[in-house]
Amino acid sequence: MKVLVSDSLSEEGITKLKKHFTVDVSTGLSEDELVEKIKDYDALLIRSGTQVTSKVIEGADKLKIIGRAGVGVDNIDVDAATRKGIIIVNAPEGNMLSAAEHTIGMMMGLARNIPQANASLKSRKWERNKFMGVEVNGKTLGVIGLGRIGAEVAKRAQGLDMNILAYDPFITEERAQELGVKLASVKEIAEKSDFITVHTPLTKETRNIIDADEFAIMKDGVRLINCARGGIINEEALADALENGKVAGAAFDVFVNEPPFDSRFLEFDNVIVTPHLGASTEEAQINVAVSVADEIITVLQGGSAKNAINIPSVKPEVMTILAPYIQLVDTMGKIIGQLMDRNYEKVEIVYNGDVSEKDVRPVTVAALKSLLETAVGSGVNYVNAQALAKSRKIGVVESKSETSKEYTSTVRIQLSKGAEKKSITGTVVGNVAKIIEIDDYHVDIVPAGYMIIAHHINRPNVIGPCCLVLGKKNINISGMQVGRVEIGGTTIMVLNVDSEVPDPILEEMRHIEGILDAKLVTL
Ligand code: NAD
Ligand code: MLT
Repeated sequence: MKVLVSDSLSEEGITKLKKHFTVDVSTGLSEDELVEKIKDYDALLIRSGTQVTSKVIEGADKLKIIGRAGVGVDNIDVDAATRKGIIIVNAPEGNMLSAAEHTIGMMMGLARNIPQANASLKSRKWERNKFMGVEVNGKTLGVIGLGRIGAEVAKRAQGLDMNILAYDPFITEERAQELGVKLASVKEIAEKSDFITVHTPLTKETRNIIDADEFAIMKDGVRLINCARGGIINEEALADALENGKVAGAAFDVFVNEPPFDSRFLEFDNVIVTPHLGASTEEAQINVAVSVADEIITVLQGGSAKNAINIPSVKPEVMTILAPYIQLVDTMGKIIGQLMDRNYEKVEIVYNGDVSEKDVRPVTVAALKSLLETAVGSGVNYVNAQALAKSRKIGVVESKSETSKEYTSTVRIQLSKGAEKKSITGTVVGNVAKIIEIDDYHVDIVPAGYMIIAHHINRPNVIGPCCLVLGKKNINISGMQVGRVEIGGTTIMVLNVDSEVPDPILEEMRHIEGILDAKLVTL
């Protein structure tokens, strides 16, 4: 297997990869060069420099994984990669402390004009009055985005005796209390803060989250920091607010366009800038390179990623418990997918018993993958299954109940189209997958090979003639199960056979009196 590293990366990560794969390092590639090159590679390892566009992904027919040595994936067309079934992994924790420390450094530099004073003295000037600063002690810091880095910044700023206001719609009151911060709206942060720092990803919602309206209500003399992504604070609105004196200073590490040579706000003396250095420490670069290299090794060797951003990833120890259920639902999906017409509208997956206490998202994705594979063929995988279900307007419902009647854990998959429903229930016994119900019929099947599944009337002289039809054609029956709800009612028969059953033979079975339908399921 071959790995392409297209941004400069710490040697520790490359050395790890080289123990397993052929690794080529080729930085500074244009889009066209990358399109041409990527065709031969199984994995691509990048930082923020490489733009992985839809054009790059289109031709990347061998590519299985993109590793982002860092946090932000805004330089990757995630949707295009997901549609193509390419796993994207990042290194969410490796550089968070470095980015948080850089933010605090920027805040202190801003409060005390350290970069400007440094430049002045180096130009042989002694300007003690010019660089009057402010203390941060007792001041209010507004933090927008209280994730990994935002939280670390908040902790450190509390160490400097600052009061923290935070806005993050996805953070609970308990988490805010645990961090000792007060949750507030963006408006409240704008009105009350002396310093404001942003730590969100760049999304539709966060782009320009600080804009002219927010600047208008800020305290005079406010200072702003952006070590997250260019565009979260509107650069033009900031330049206006610097010009009219509302803002006393700004410290930016990230920009809408990098490098930001044409940015108007770069002209201001009270703006300090660094060239996207938040993660540029020896420690962070080793951490992210090693973390992503490990992920690439695991995934290319058939394991599951810990930090996949486009498939659900769970802890390896949970994955060990889930693995037999992934196998189970794969089989169940294949069976029920062959029993029901392909145009179902809804998939319900119900987890009962012990398994319901786990994070079963990978099992749900595996069930969907198996169902859709049966319907649309081999282009489906764990990465694109959910997106494909959505694009086919198939509703997916996952539900859980802690109780399970006979088995410690069961999984039920139900497909429906209007009033028409079909379901299958399975369990795992000693790591062996078993089917225990098809619709409401109790069965006990260890699924394998070829199975004929036939509904029939529960009366004598139906099963025998079926066996005769198969016997005459030399088709060996290796197992048989009959499940019924009531005597004389409809019954289900499952015949395990050793070879494929051509349709004319099935048709002959369908003509036996009492047989309602007969389908061949192939695993
Ligand atoms: P994270 O995912 O841990 O935290 C982001 C937080 O933003 C989450 O808590 C999320 O709930 C919150 N958020 C999302 N949408 C929001 C919205 N509309 N309003 C308010 N909050 C919202 O990410 P992180 O690891 O803390 O990284 C934060 C940012 O820093 C990212 O943009 C990342 O790319 C960037 N980063 C920059 C550098 C650098 O070199 N300057 C280094 C590392 C990370
Ligand atoms: C990140 O998102 O991790 C940062 O932008 C750091 C980087 O990759 O340089």
